[in-house]
Amino acid sequence: MLIKNIKGLVQTRTADESQNPLKGEVLKKLPIIENAFLLLKDDRIAAYGKMEDCPTYEGEVIDAKDRFVLPTWVDSHTHLVFAAPREEEFVMRLKGKSYQEIAAAGGGILNSAKKLQEKSEEELFDDAWGRLQEVIRMGTGAIEIKSGYGLNTEAELKMLRVIRELKKESPIPIKATFLGAHAFPAEYKDNHQGYVDLVVNEMLPQIAEEGLADYIDAFCEKVAFSVDETRQVIEAGAKHGLKAKVHTNQFNCMGGIELCVEQNALSVDHLEVVNETEIKALQGSSTLATLLPSAPFFLSDPYQPARALIDADIPVVLASDYNPGSTPSSNMNLVVALACIKLKMTPEEAINAATLNGAFALELEKDYGSIEVGKKANLILTKKIPSVGYIPYAFGSNHIDEVIINGKVY
Ligand code: NIG
Ligand code: FE
Repeated sequence: MLIKNIKGLVQTRTADESQNPLKGEVLKKLPIIENAFLLLKDDRIAAYGKMEDCPTYEGEVIDAKDRFVLPTWVDSHTHLVFAAPREEEFVMRLKGKSYQEIAAAGGGILNSAKKLQEKSEEELFDDAWGRLQEVIRMGTGAIEIKSGYGLNTEAELKMLRVIRELKKESPIPIKATFLGAHAFPAEYKDNHQGYVDLVVNEMLPQIAEEGLADYIDAFCEKVAFSVDETRQVIEAGAKHGLKAKVHTNQFNCMGGIELCVEQNALSVDHLEVVNETEIKALQGSSTLATLLPSAPFFLSDPYQPARALIDADIPVVLASDYNPGSTPSSNMNLVVALACIKLKMTPEEAINAATLNGAFALELEKDYGSIEVGKKANLILTKKIPSVGYIPYAFGSNHIDEVIINGKVY
C-alpha cells in the first residue's frame, strides 16, 4: 500500500533515534515530515519521505490529502479483562464517598473480583474481545493487559488464560501482566502475609510454568500492599524472569518508587503524588514513569506532576489504565488531551509519551511506536485537521479517519 500526499507524517525516526526512551529536550521534539509519502510492504513500513521522492506504485494507493499519519498509540497499562462495569460505585462517589472508602467497605477491586470469579473463561473472553475491537478502532496498536481481578489461584489463572487467548486472536500485540497482588481478599484481611505467600508460592509458579505472564505487578498503596509486601512480590517475579511494572504513588508517597528503582522495575505507574526524593531516585534510573491522567480525571484526584518529571530528565510514558473502577475509558486520544490540558505537557511531548515511550514500556520499541523502515505498519490516518496540536486541543472529538493494522485498513 502507498499513502501519498500526507500533510504531516508524524514520529519518523531512524533506528539510532529510537535506541532509548525519549526524555528532556528530546521528548520535546516530535519529528514531522510535511507533504510526505509512506510505502508499506505487507505488514511493515518499507519506505517514507517527501512527496518529491515518492516512487510510482501500481497497488493500493490512499490519497491522504489534508490528513496526518501517526504511529498507533501504545497503551502500556490496562485492566481490559473484567467481568462487569461498576457505575453504581461511580454514583456513590458522586454522592460523596471516596474511592478508598468504597474499597475499604468491600467494593472496588473486591467487587470486581467477586463478579469475575463467577464468570466463565468464554464469557470473559467475549466481553474482552469486544473491548479490544473498540480500543483498536480508537487507534491503539499495541497493548498491555493485567490480571488482578481473580485474587485466588483459579481465578487469576483464568484471567491470564483469557489474556493468552486474546493474544492468539488479536491483530495487535498484547503483553500480559500478573497482578495477583492487587487487593487483599476478605479472608486474608487480617493475614496479609498469608496472601502474599499464596501469590508468591502458589500462583506465580503455576503462571510461570504455563508462561502466562510477561510482567509482574503489585498495587503498592496504603489501601493495598506495603513496600515490604511489594518487594516480596517483585523479588519472586524476578526469580521467574518477570520484570516489574508497579502500581504506586496513586494516593500516597510511601517508598514504592525507591523500591522499584532499586529493583530495576521496567516502570512505575500512576504517580499522582511524587515527592522530591522520589524524583531524585528516578533520575538516571532505567525505570520509566508511566502517567495515567484519566484516573485522577475520573476520581477527581491531583494530576501527575509531568512537568517536574520531564524537567528532571525522566522519561515519561502515557497510558490509559482502562478498568471498571478508576478509569472506565480506553481512549488514548483523551489521555493525550488530558496530558496536555491537565498535566501541561505539550502535544509533542504527549504524542511521544503515548507512542515510542509506550513501546519502551512494553519492550516493543523494535517493532512499534514510530514510523521507521522495517517497523510494523500500525498507523492512524487522521481526518482533515490543521496540525497535530489540534488532536489534544479539540478534545472529545474523533479525529481518526482510518486505523491501519499490520498494513491493512482495520
Ligand atoms: O490502576 N489502583 C489500582 N488498580 C486500578 C483500579 C482497580 C479498580 O478500581 O478496579 C488502577 O487504578
Ligand atoms: Fe491500573
